[in-house]
Amino acid sequence: MNSSPKLQGQAALVTGANSGIGRGVALALANDGAKVVVNYVAAPESAEEVVSEIKKNGGLAIALQGDVSREDEVKAMFELMVKEFGTIDILVANAGIQKDCNFEDMSLEDWNRVLDINLTGQFLCAREAVREFIRRGMVKERSCALGKIICMSSVHQEIPWGGHVNYATSKGGINMMMKSMAQELAPKKIRVNSIAPGAIETGINQKVWSTSAALDRLLTLIPYGRIGMPDDIGKLAVWLASDESDYITGTTVFIDGGMTLYPGFSTNG
Ligand SMILES: NC(=O)c1ccc[n+]([C@@H]2O[C@H](COP(=O)([O-])OP(=O)(O)OC[C@H]3O[C@@H](n4cnc5c(N)ncnc54)[C@H](O)[C@@H]3O)[C@@H](O)[C@H]2O)c1
Repeated sequence: MNSSPKLQGQAALVTGANSGIGRGVALALANDGAKVVVNYVAAPESAEEVVSEIKKNGGLAIALQGDVSREDEVKAMFELMVKEFGTIDILVANAGIQKDCNFEDMSLEDWNRVLDINLTGQFLCAREAVREFIRRGMVKERSCALGKIICMSSVHQEIPWGGHVNYATSKGGINMMMKSMAQELAPKKIRVNSIAPGAIETGINQKVWSTSAALDRLLTLIPYGRIGMPDDIGKLAVWLASDESDYITGTTVFIDGGMTLYPGFSTNG
């Protein structure tokens, strides 16, 4: 555990925390003193592995099952969290999926599933978090904000992505949801921000980094010359959740090794 933890005593919920970026964020928040709910929808053993890793490091965590796209399950998960940890201070709405398809063949089912999890899932979790922040009230000793929400977006809230129209649409929606929430909730001292990762090495995008040919192709899109790691996102999430970023709300932080710098134009297009 960090010797001067930035999130001491705060309770955090990370959705989809049993793999990839969510796992990295859960470990990082715990390493900075937060008690962490590791949400998962399937594969409880991988959620328990994250909990064990946190406990091994001297932290506190529990695993809670819940499908973020289902209102009843989200409500039940928050009720359990409040029962176990007393409240929530930090929500990282991270769970997300891709169901890739060329546009003319995309089924309504795949369109809806991606929007239901990636966008509606963030709405449902954020709404429950905000309700609990307001119910609990300010605890100045823990944080100067009433609560912090971090939405996991993507560079594809900005970069159009053919073959992934449902996914890119969900991330564009997250951007406007996040900003509108931030505007509405700032007077209540609730901060809402997004993290927009570029290519991070996780299961969701294994195709683009698991062979050296694929990785070489990917690296032509990343001026900084390396793929990102879940820990890169974890460190940013800690900072955005902490009082060190207290004056930041309604912002998307791109963390992409320069992917959004349009590297195709670096030698005159
Ligand atoms: N890996 C990248 O390059 C990258 C880039 C930009 C954005 N992201 C975003 O980061 C987030 C995490 O993705 P990842 O790369 O770690 O992939 P991942 O597949 O490892 O993680 C996604 C997680 O969401 C969970 N999940 C899926 N449906 C759920 C549901 N209905 N309820 C609860 N949990 C559910 C999965 O079980 C999994 O744990 C996603 O929102 C993704 O869009 C990833």
